[in-house]
Amino acid sequence: MNFEPYERPVRAAFVGLGRIYDLNVRAYVDNPDVEVVALVDPSEERRAQRQPDWPAARMFASAAELAASGLEVDAVEVLLPIPLHADGVAELLGYGWHVNLQKPICNDLADAKRMLDAAVASGRLLRVMDNYVFYEPLVKLKEIVESGDLGEVSGYHMKMVASGRGGWDVPGSTYEWQFQQMRRGRGTLVFDDGWHKLSTAIWLFGPIKEVRAWVGTTEVIPGIDVDAPTTLVWEHQNGIRGVWDITLAIDMYLRSDYYTNDERWEVTGRRGYARVNRCTGRGIQQPSLEVYLDGEMRSYHALDDDWASSFRDSGHHWLRWLQTGEGPMLWSGAEAVDILRFALASYASDAAGGTGVDPDSLE
Ligand SMILES: NC(=O)c1ccc[n+]([C@@H]2O[C@H](COP(=O)([O-])OP(=O)(O)OC[C@H]3O[C@@H](n4cnc5c(N)ncnc54)[C@H](O)[C@@H]3O)[C@@H](O)[C@H]2O)c1
Repeated sequence: MNFEPYERPVRAAFVGLGRIYDLNVRAYVDNPDVEVVALVDPSEERRAQRQPDWPAARMFASAAELAASGLEVDAVEVLLPIPLHADGVAELLGYGWHVNLQKPICNDLADAKRMLDAAVASGRLLRVMDNYVFYEPLVKLKEIVESGDLGEVSGYHMKMVASGRGGWDVPGSTYEWQFQQMRRGRGTLVFDDGWHKLSTAIWLFGPIKEVRAWVGTTEVIPGIDVDAPTTLVWEHQNGIRGVWDITLAIDMYLRSDYYTNDERWEVTGRRGYARVNRCTGRGIQQPSLEVYLDGEMRSYHALDDDWASSFRDSGHHWLRWLQTGEGPMLWSGAEAVDILRFALASYASDAAGGTGVDPDSLE
């Protein structure tokens, strides 16, 4: 498509004003690249709660009402529950608005195609944001890997422990959408939070050749199953192997300003390793990034390791991109489909007893 960068602040609307708005909004505050002109949510309570953030913005109960109002909008920040992504994005692109969508793109390849087709038909952009690739310790990890300091990379290891105690409050209505996803076989750990982990693998080491998965399940409250314990292993097209293990520690208290998620990333090279010790939660109280080389450990004490900052930086990237049209979008709609394929190949592998599945082989 021919994208003409804006030479003025972009006129933006938020669509969905729920839990994650609290972090996405940080990219829009005091940002000369953007003017927030509208807020959309069917919940009157949510609209009333968010209105003071943007006193000049107009409020709408639906995107259709905003479109019919005649208010000029260039781009929308889409924070809809996952089951509404496909229809919602097709509708929003149809109104002629660029879309910055929260991950995951959607639940299956047919819906993803519908969304990409809608972007082409409207001549508008579809970006699927992943804040993790803007989290400074992970950005620094990537720099270290690419510097060659670790030597040739031998492997990638991610660990995630989901705990049930601590963190911020998540409304019951937010959980209801999550439960709907779980019932469709798109669990919160592998598919929702997992999106970020799969995204970092592709971001660091490129396309996936084959994935093998063993997706477990644990009933946490009657009728509600969480998708752990789970283990994914894979090989990138460049031969680097990765492993990601997900464990549930339902009674473990984890200090966190956000979700209770104890996460680690470790890249091992022929000469040493680099490890990110935490992200969303405040698990290990070491510096967030450590690099071991030749018998010495180097610790990074001054990185911005507040997880919320990654939302600010991801949003800044998008709003700047609209002013320049330059560089990677992180992620374009088509790139997001590669992450979706990685997740869906994991489910296909699990269903086949853990055999290797090439994400590109999925119809
Ligand atoms: N990047 C991350 O780490 C991260 C973390 C949490 C959530 N998310 C993503 O953010 C999105 C929203 O999640 P959340 O936790 O804020 O959910 P939420 O349920 O708290 O909020 C969703 C909001 O959308 C509103 N809504 C429902 N239907 C609507 C419609 N048709 N039009 C406009 N608004 C509508 C709801 O009233 C609610 O206020 C999801 O895609 C989720 O995957 C990402």
